[in-house]
Amino acid sequence: MKVKNTDNINNSLRYLQQKKAVFDENKKDKFIIEGLGGKKKLNGKIAVAGAKNAALPALSASILFRNGFCVSNIPNIKDIDSMNILLEKLGAIVKKQAEKKYHIVTDEIKSVALDIEISKKMRGSIILTGVLLARFGKVSFPHPGGCIIGARPIDAFLNSFQKMGAKVQNRNGKYVVSVGKNKKLKGAKIFFNKITVTGTETLMLAGILAKGRTVIENAALEPEIKHLADFLNSCGAKIRGAGTSTIEIIGGNLLSAGNRVYKIPPDRIEAGSFLILGALSADNLEITDCDPKHMRALINILKDSGVPIIEEKNKIIIKDNGKIKNKHLKCIDIKTHEYPGFPTDLQSLMAIYLTQISGESLLFETIFEGRLNYTDDLINMGANIIIIDTHRIMIKGPTQLKGRELIGNDLRAEFAFFIATIVAKGKSVINNVRYIDRGYERIEERLSGIGVNIQRIKG
Ligand code: EPU
Repeated sequence: MKVKNTDNINNSLRYLQQKKAVFDENKKDKFIIEGLGGKKKLNGKIAVAGAKNAALPALSASILFRNGFCVSNIPNIKDIDSMNILLEKLGAIVKKQAEKKYHIVTDEIKSVALDIEISKKMRGSIILTGVLLARFGKVSFPHPGGCIIGARPIDAFLNSFQKMGAKVQNRNGKYVVSVGKNKKLKGAKIFFNKITVTGTETLMLAGILAKGRTVIENAALEPEIKHLADFLNSCGAKIRGAGTSTIEIIGGNLLSAGNRVYKIPPDRIEAGSFLILGALSADNLEITDCDPKHMRALINILKDSGVPIIEEKNKIIIKDNGKIKNKHLKCIDIKTHEYPGFPTDLQSLMAIYLTQISGESLLFETIFEGRLNYTDDLINMGANIIIIDTHRIMIKGPTQLKGRELIGNDLRAEFAFFIATIVAKGKSVINNVRYIDRGYERIEERLSGIGVNIQRIKG
């Protein structure tokens, strides 16, 4: 099968279907938030959970292990539940050993078909395709879903599987990828035309059981990739260069974890979310259990803008911020970039920041074409935003945002709505909280703990 970068009609159809599904689901739980009207009243400590986007590849990697694999610091979120169900449906035994700690045994896997409904809701499901193909020679799956932030093609995955000797077919809307009876994936030289995070993870993991040498060029640099590779190497994998743009993997046998436990690193995007919230609405806030060195782009930008931030080894402190009026913070332009640049995942949250500071700031989303979808809602709340095109907006601040009823389309933009409604004057309702529950654990409890007036209404 020849795989093209985008099949425009299919992609926009898929996009519309996803959007409809979101609206259909909006009758479920909602949040009521009473805004602070621009006051900086939040105070206290908030701890960061393990990273969703480290936990999903780690759980997928369980397929590469003989005799089980143990992972700790797993966040308590819906995407993890979904990944565990996906694994169980394949035949894996997933046992919760303690709070946030799971033991997974994949020696009795019976199926190589990913559950259609779950995979269609979660982009992270695609990481399972590489490991299943590498271990069992076959996998079938639908086009993965996830947040509505653009078309999200999978050509890089399919082309790479083909390079490694697999045949790709599309049968009734399902991809079937196989290497043929008693054959293995072959090591190959892969160059990603566009840097892809889950693509890098998927192919790095697939290379571990492939025959020979796999080289991934223009690989993603996210710290979660190196963190996982280091652990896998301690269990017998041969991966070099993870964390750089060229990763080399020498294929071999199934891995063995022994008594080793893989600890999921802190979620730098969650930490960044709390930091942007704190910059706008907190007087004194300690963000604990995080790693500031993986958040350099955001911390530098906020410091340059005038936010009083102190960095410690595993902590970020916002100190005496109440004294600083938001309108006195300096305006800044934001351009998203692959790691270590400014993360696309924090772009929508930063837009709220830019509505509160003085001056005109350009916000340029370079990675996803549908990630400015929240803009109309912000304008509706009173923000002064000019939409330049699907990738760029100009924000003029400061503006007093007003409470409104909102519906999230994507996990991060939904957190941006939390920040906007906390900053705003009056009451807001945020509908369709399935996105927030997918990625931020016990969010209302944790935000209440630092003084946010938030209530979940069960649907
Ligand atoms: N791309 C292609 N073809 C492909 C794959 C990607 O053209 O086959 C393009 C995408 O359309 C996009 C760019 O490459 O323009 C980068 O996409 P990437 O593949 O890196 O995104 P992803 O791996 O699907 C992960 C995170 C996202 C995060 C992005 C960018 C997971 C499960 N998801 O997505 O996280 O925004 O990297 O950093 O790791 C989130 O957590 O809310 C989230 C959306």
